[in-house]
Amino acid sequence: MSISTASTPPALAAVLRAARRVVVLTGAGVSAESGVPTFRDALGGLWARYDPLEIATPSAFARQPRLVWDWYAERRDALRLVEPNSGHRALVAIERRVGDFLLVTQNVDGLHARAGSRSMVELHGNLARVRCSLEDRIVDRWDAPPGDEPPRCPHCGAFLRPDVVWFEEGLPAEALARAEDAADRCDLMIVAGTSAEVLPAAALPLRAKRAGARVIEINPDATPLSAVADHVLRAPSGEALPSLVAAAWPDASEGGGAK
Ligand code: OAD
Repeated sequence: MSISTASTPPALAAVLRAARRVVVLTGAGVSAESGVPTFRDALGGLWARYDPLEIATPSAFARQPRLVWDWYAERRDALRLVEPNSGHRALVAIERRVGDFLLVTQNVDGLHARAGSRSMVELHGNLARVRCSLEDRIVDRWDAPPGDEPPRCPHCGAFLRPDVVWFEEGLPAEALARAEDAADRCDLMIVAGTSAEVLPAAALPLRAKRAGARVIEINPDATPLSAVADHVLRAPSGEALPSLVAAAWPDASEGGGAK
């Protein structure tokens, strides 16, 4: 394993340029420079300020549905004020240049799609979507009633909930299968902005490695993945990803499309 802190080493740029099948796994850290809080940072991380068992579980929703609904509604509203950053845009630039590309994100903030990523799997759902807690039907419109209850499904009357994955719940099966298949087939996996602590997402780089892929980690801090990665860029993704793109494709007129 090698570690770099400043500019992209030329050898790493060559690895990206030569890669034919690339998977990128992202976590909350890639949205940190957009102003979206991460989960596990000691200062400012959401799970440092809130107990996930009181917010992000089916039993919390059963106990206090309105509190859980309001917590996610606040986060959904806050997303209207943020924009994708240069890290999100650099991933769009990579997607444009690599034929076989899949972005696997744990993020529910929708910023990758807003930046222009298309070949993408959202493993933990999307905060902007709301679904029926009984029938899983996606619902576009609702009225938040006064009182202790969240809005109800216009079709069956069950409570509505955010379309995100909670602790104790399984991931969307199709999304996970697509991510695992891509991890098994890729020759390069870039892992950016995740603490690599939450399964099954955290197992994807290990699958890629087992299948013979190179793994590059981008994170200002060490994670359990750091010892496994072939190369670590110890820098914020909003700097490291554009620098990687610019080094891999220096002739790209739009600076890798990442500025
Ligand atoms: P975490 O909050 O666990 O980890 C964020 C990571 O991003 C940390 O390792 C930070 O060091 C790193 N980081 C911070 N700023 C960064 C920057 N500018 N550039 C790059 N990295 C930076 O978030 P996740 O790994 O995404 O699940 O958490 C995984 C899952 O746990 C989330 O999807 C969520 C949470 O519970 C659900 O809600 C289901």
